[in-house]
Amino acid sequence: MVEGQLGGAGLTAADLKALLGDRAVLTGEADQQRYLHDWRDRHHGRAACIVLPQSVAEVSAVLAYCHENGVPVFPQGGNTSVCGGSVPSADGLGVVMSLERLRRIREVNPANNSMTVEAGCVLATVQEAARAVDRYFPLSLGAEGSCQIGGNLATNAGGTGVVRYGNMRDLVLGIEAVLPDGRVWNGLRTLRKDNSGYDLKNLFIGAEGTLGVITAAALKLYPLAPTTVTAMFSLNHVEDAVALGGRLQKRFPGELVALELMSLSETEIVLRHIPGSACPLGDRGQWQLIVELTASAPAEQVTDELSACVEGAVQDGTVRDAVIATSEKQRQAIWHLRHNVTEANKREGMGLTHDIAVPVYRIPDFVNQAGAMVARAHPGTTVVIVGHIGDGNLHYIVMVPHAQWEATEDKAGWQTRLAQDLYDIAIPMGGTFSAEHGIGSLHLHEMAKYKDPVELGLMWQVKRMLDPRGIMNPGRVLPPVD
Ligand code: FAD
Ligand code: LAC
Ligand code: ZN
Repeated sequence: MVEGQLGGAGLTAADLKALLGDRAVLTGEADQQRYLHDWRDRHHGRAACIVLPQSVAEVSAVLAYCHENGVPVFPQGGNTSVCGGSVPSADGLGVVMSLERLRRIREVNPANNSMTVEAGCVLATVQEAARAVDRYFPLSLGAEGSCQIGGNLATNAGGTGVVRYGNMRDLVLGIEAVLPDGRVWNGLRTLRKDNSGYDLKNLFIGAEGTLGVITAAALKLYPLAPTTVTAMFSLNHVEDAVALGGRLQKRFPGELVALELMSLSETEIVLRHIPGSACPLGDRGQWQLIVELTASAPAEQVTDELSACVEGAVQDGTVRDAVIATSEKQRQAIWHLRHNVTEANKREGMGLTHDIAVPVYRIPDFVNQAGAMVARAHPGTTVVIVGHIGDGNLHYIVMVPHAQWEATEDKAGWQTRLAQDLYDIAIPMGGTFSAEHGIGSLHLHEMAKYKDPVELGLMWQVKRMLDPRGIMNPGRVLPPVD
């Protein structure tokens, strides 16, 4: 990082007000507050001001100004990052650029199965606009009511549909981005095939705002399947959940959309804290598995096929209980339970969250080894697991009761030791310390420790080439180099 060049030289909110107008630049403490901490209230920062551009030209003008004056810029979407990616640094020298006013749907094109939207569009709005033309936009996650397409792109978000549709990266045809010096790159192509040179959009997707600001994207749409069948299974052993998931993937290769695992501890936390939550399973084993299929066959047929597929596991007792939703209300109740895990965990205690992935077949090994380690080294805590098992991605949460957490003197030391112990189990299995949430400011140490040095070096070269003054989201993604 070219730290020496940072420092906000020449920055005045007055300059930015002159560029954007008074109402687009927030300087008052109360006005700034919600942009200065993340959704979970774990990360806090300060800013010289918050800017709210309404057009690509305004984004460009702010970046050109900041580039010229060496002012750090912290792009922000819905601020739902769980790894400190969207909150400014503590020194207060930078500018938070919220994309919330850049939220036009520029084009919905059902004939091309595509849709072009601005970065500040909330994900749920995009899903709804697709449904309005009988199409489906597959990205789905608990924060969909507030996270924005720009944030989804910048973090290459995953969520519950990856098993069928892939990550955000797989859902994009083209992007528009403003480079750190203010140049606008219009890469909004809506083609399925375009081999005309380097695939530059994928540099910006997943870069967490360190290479420029994404201002719009051309997204892929899919036909809206007439039938959706959602089911929930209760099992005793994680091995059985993985095996059942594998069987479902083989039997329903074109239909399986979601394969979501929750430990009983997680299910109970949601039931305890989220009003209106309900679990349809009577006999709850140690694990709950949510399965969703979409198809063009009639619902009765898909339901019968699903029942037949799991019948053996029900007969031999592997599946303790099974519920297939028979109404949209029941389906919504299942997803309400799943999508509220983060909110519920926040209320339960201090959840030390890890976003690991291992090859799917290693999930049982990981769960067993990690469970033994936590029981031995972290007494008084509860292991809570929720994850996308079709992708090998588990959110492995060690829940510390509030009182125990408050009484802990070396909180950071505990967190670091626990995380290292977990990564030292996952990584030798061919796993990762960051499956879908990104790096933010939280995982710089792991980047330095686990990334191939050649890969890190290349990332720095790209960073310096695109952002020579180091203004874009400094202190995120790339660990400092000597
Ligand atoms: P922010 O949090 O505002 O920003 C995230 C990063 O993107 C930051 O580094 C920011 O600087 C950068 N950024 C934002 N907008 C832009 C832009 N226009 N141009 C350039 N950079 C930009 N994540 C998953 O992958 N899967 C899940 O299932 C999932 N579930 C979640 C559930 C809950 C309840 C919560 C709170 C979070 C969840 N997340 C999940 C994490 C988070 O919601 C996603 O990463 C989401 O994609 C972030 O979007 P956002 O708009 O809130 O971005
Ligand atoms: C989820 C978020 C935490 O899967 O990624 O609920
Ligand atoms: Zn997740």
